[in-house]
This record gives sequence, structure tokens and C-alpha cells, in this order.
Amino acid sequence: MLRLDKFLCDRKIGSRSQVKEWIRQGMVTVDGQVVCRPETKIEEEKAQIRFQGERLNYRKYIYVMLHKPAGVVSATKDSSCQTVTGLLKEAEYKDLFPVGRLDKDTEGLLLMTNDGELAHGLLSPKKQVEKVYYCELEQPLSQEAINQLEEGIDIGEEKKTLPAKVERLRERCIHLTITEGKFHQVKRMLLAVGNQVVYLKRVRMGGLHLDPELLPGDYRELTLEEVEQLKG
Ligand code: URA
Repeated sequence: MLRLDKFLCDRKIGSRSQVKEWIRQGMVTVDGQVVCRPETKIEEEKAQIRFQGERLNYRKYIYVMLHKPAGVVSATKDSSCQTVTGLLKEAEYKDLFPVGRLDKDTEGLLLMTNDGELAHGLLSPKKQVEKVYYCELEQPLSQEAINQLEEGIDIGEEKKTLPAKVERLRERCIHLTITEGKFHQVKRMLLAVGNQVVYLKRVRMGGLHLDPELLPGDYRELTLEEVEQLKG
């Protein structure tokens, strides 16, 4: 159950005070009846809510881009740590889950959704979705190390990693593109070539780029184009 004024605000109809005023003026109906009390509780999944006659549909799927900050775990619940789900304040975001995991100390792009099918597609090893990481390293990366990373490297799994792409940005900074999602994969790949990641941030997943306007901890909904691109 959700307050009617909150529901309208979440739909970006207007500010909380505007929305309250419009409800009082009788511009909102719930199941065909004018409701003039902004605090009225509604069942947002079932109720038919109209603003000036226009249906505000309940949305089945929601897609949010979070700039995950360090110090937060990629989980919906945790007994001792702050979770990424806990960073999302809106009531309608409470059932979103993270698509894959970033380590507690990793920052960057994390998609949060309730669309299990999309999440499954993005995480499926068969799909080989590209993930791009900005990495700051302890030492400069040699050409030999780049070659090893690009060929595939033994990180103690059954098979070598799939070939990665390395783009050198500065002496100790690279963009590393991988198409798998093994536990601590980027850190383990750099360790395997005798280096160490000192800062890690995901900047892209498939066609979805981290919005440079989002500071760590900020989030926003994906645009329709971004959702289409991810699905494509
Ligand atoms: N690889 C890592 O080592 N850590 C992450 O958080 C993501 C990829």
C-alpha cells in the first residue's frame, strides 16, 4: 500500500506539494472515483489511477542504473553491511535486485531491475556480454602482460579466461573488457600477470554506459533507448 500523493510523485507527475494540490482539486481518480485526500492509501499494483483522465499504469518492469559506491555489497539483504537495494529510496524500487555483482570495494555501473529474463540474458555465459572496467594498477602494465590478458590466462579455474581487450589509458590505468563474470575476475587476472588492482570501476555493461553525471551512490531510471539497447 502506498500513499496516493507518493504514487503520483514517483510517476514524476509533479512535486509533492503540486500533486497534493491537484488531488485536493479532484483531478485524480482511483478506480473511477474522485479521491481528494492525498494521504489515501492505494494498492498500486491493482488500483486504476487516472490523472486528468489519463491512466497511470502500474509498471511491471523497472530498470535503474546505480553508480555503486565502495563499501556497499551487491545484495538485496545483508545482516551487517549496507546493500545496493538499500540505497534505492523509492518504495517502487524496493523489489529491484542487482544484475550480477561488484565486489564491496568496486565502484561503478550496476543495473538494478525486477526483470528476471533480462538479467538472466545479461548474465548468461553463452551471451558473452562485454563488461568494461576502469582499473588503476599498482605497477605499469608490460606489453607481455597485455598479450597474456588478451590471449586468455590461467586464474586457477578449469579453463583459461576468454580473451580480454586491454586499452592503455595512462601508465598505470587501463580499460579491461571481459565477457565472463567469474568471482573477482579482474583482480585475479591482474594478479596472474604479477600486478595488482588498486582501484576498480565498471564503466559499461553491453550497450549500457555508466552515466558520467551520476556520482557514487546516485541512480536514475534507464531511458527507453537504453532498455531497448540492453534487450537487443
Ligand atoms: N572483477 C573483480 O575483480 N571485481 C569486481 O567487482 C568485478 C569484476
